Amino acid sequence: MGKVAVAFAAAAVLVSCSVAAVMVGRRIKSRAKWRAVVEILKELEEACDTPVGRLRQVVDAMAVEMHAGLASEGGSKLKMLLTFVHHLPNGTEKGTYYALHLGGSYFRILRVHLGGERSYLDVQDVERHPIPSHLMDSTSEVLFNFLAFSMERFIEKEGKESNSQGVKRELAFTFSFPVKHSSISSGVLIKWTKGFEISEMVGKDVAECLQGAMNRRGLDIHVAALVNDTVGALSLGYYHDPDTVVTVVFGTGSNACYLERTDAIIKSQGLLTTSGSMVVNMEWGNFWSSHLPRTSYDIDLDAESSNPNDMGFEKMIAGLYLGDIVRRVIRHMSQVSDIFGPTSSMLSEPYVLRTNSVSAMHEDDTPELQQVARILKDSGVSDVPLKVRKLVVKICDVVTRRAGRLAAAGIAGILKKIGRDGSGGITSGRSRSEMRMQKRTVVAVEGGLYMNYTMFREYMEEALVEILGEEVSQYVVVKAMEDGSSIGSALLVASLQS
Ligand code: BGC
Repeated sequence: MGKVAVAFAAAAVLVSCSVAAVMVGRRIKSRAKWRAVVEILKELEEACDTPVGRLRQVVDAMAVEMHAGLASEGGSKLKMLLTFVHHLPNGTEKGTYYALHLGGSYFRILRVHLGGERSYLDVQDVERHPIPSHLMDSTSEVLFNFLAFSMERFIEKEGKESNSQGVKRELAFTFSFPVKHSSISSGVLIKWTKGFEISEMVGKDVAECLQGAMNRRGLDIHVAALVNDTVGALSLGYYHDPDTVVTVVFGTGSNACYLERTDAIIKSQGLLTTSGSMVVNMEWGNFWSSHLPRTSYDIDLDAESSNPNDMGFEKMIAGLYLGDIVRRVIRHMSQVSDIFGPTSSMLSEPYVLRTNSVSAMHEDDTPELQQVARILKDSGVSDVPLKVRKLVVKICDVVTRRAGRLAAAGIAGILKKIGRDGSGGITSGRSRSEMRMQKRTVVAVEGGLYMNYTMFREYMEEALVEILGEEVSQYVVVKAMEDGSSIGSALLVASLQS
């Protein structure tokens, strides 16, 4: 071999060695990046862990806070609001009634016709529209004018042949926000939740605002009741099954109400009702306990929300927020590693990843996880490999599992407070046999998160059995209630008239 050939061979060896070194170096770097991401996932899993022992602590905390909220005004973060609803519809109601429901993301209008027998409940017309986002931070006048206008259009559609032509229409206003009631048909807004920000509305009478807007349009409609969505759903639940004593909403926001003995509502001593009970709107979204497994993502989400330091439980379990927790985890991972490729600034946009996308990714059963790829692309993350898509599914699972299990702990807390969890409640003085006696208890559940996100529902129901035990669980029936809030509110107005 000549000198030139030797030099050439040596150079070739050198080049291939350095190429190999670069490749090994890259592989080591990419492994290190993957390890960093796996570490973030592991930390998330640990921070979101909800073993049954921890859930039981949440159950106890919920029951204790309920007592505190009933004992005195401001005694707890749970407001435990009086609703002045002490009779629920029983099936004998007759006539035609309307409901207008302002929820978190949608508003609905419907009409029901009741024939005086439980089986004769005819929901005649339902309109469901997304709430235009500009209304959420407009003025109360703009918001209520819009609602009155929508109601006017609904009524115009009824035409001449409608049963209720010529008769004043009785309307329930289902209002899914915290209200301090002074009667069943009046109450002032305590605060906005779920991203609404019309500050001058706080402290105003909600029913009066709607009635005023209807009157200005010359509508012959009487706002006969102001009803929280949970209370509406309880009314429908009770109408179909009088063992229904608790209702929970898992939608854009979350909340629960239940039937309480008036003598247990200590803060309103002397509150007399013929039935001896009243529906209490817990506003459980604001529940807080040190036992709740909170992560840095929750803390940041809260700090950057329109209502910081408020609605801590809701921000861990409700539809508005689950998507944003997942987005924050993905964004964090994309900051420490390039496994998500060059991500666009979209991923930094709050709420760009919605919970229905989380559920679609979580429940994606295509072999290559195409749904996950599509949704990530829409959120500014393109062309991620299968391994990364699987990672995203896992994030959705961790966040939703925590939500479902905490939701179950909340329900078990209510059951404990009313002595339906098999333990005899947290007040002493019950005999052992009384403690063992279990009544059938129906928990009505409503809201898009529960209805449309199977994994959320399954985690919730599984955890409820885990907390209560197989035996007690046999007496606790969880019933889904589609459109329960609006239909139930109309039934409530009907029951006021009969
Ligand atoms: C509101 C509750 C409502 C719940 C579910 C919460 O943000 O404060 O009043 O019942 O959302 O819609």
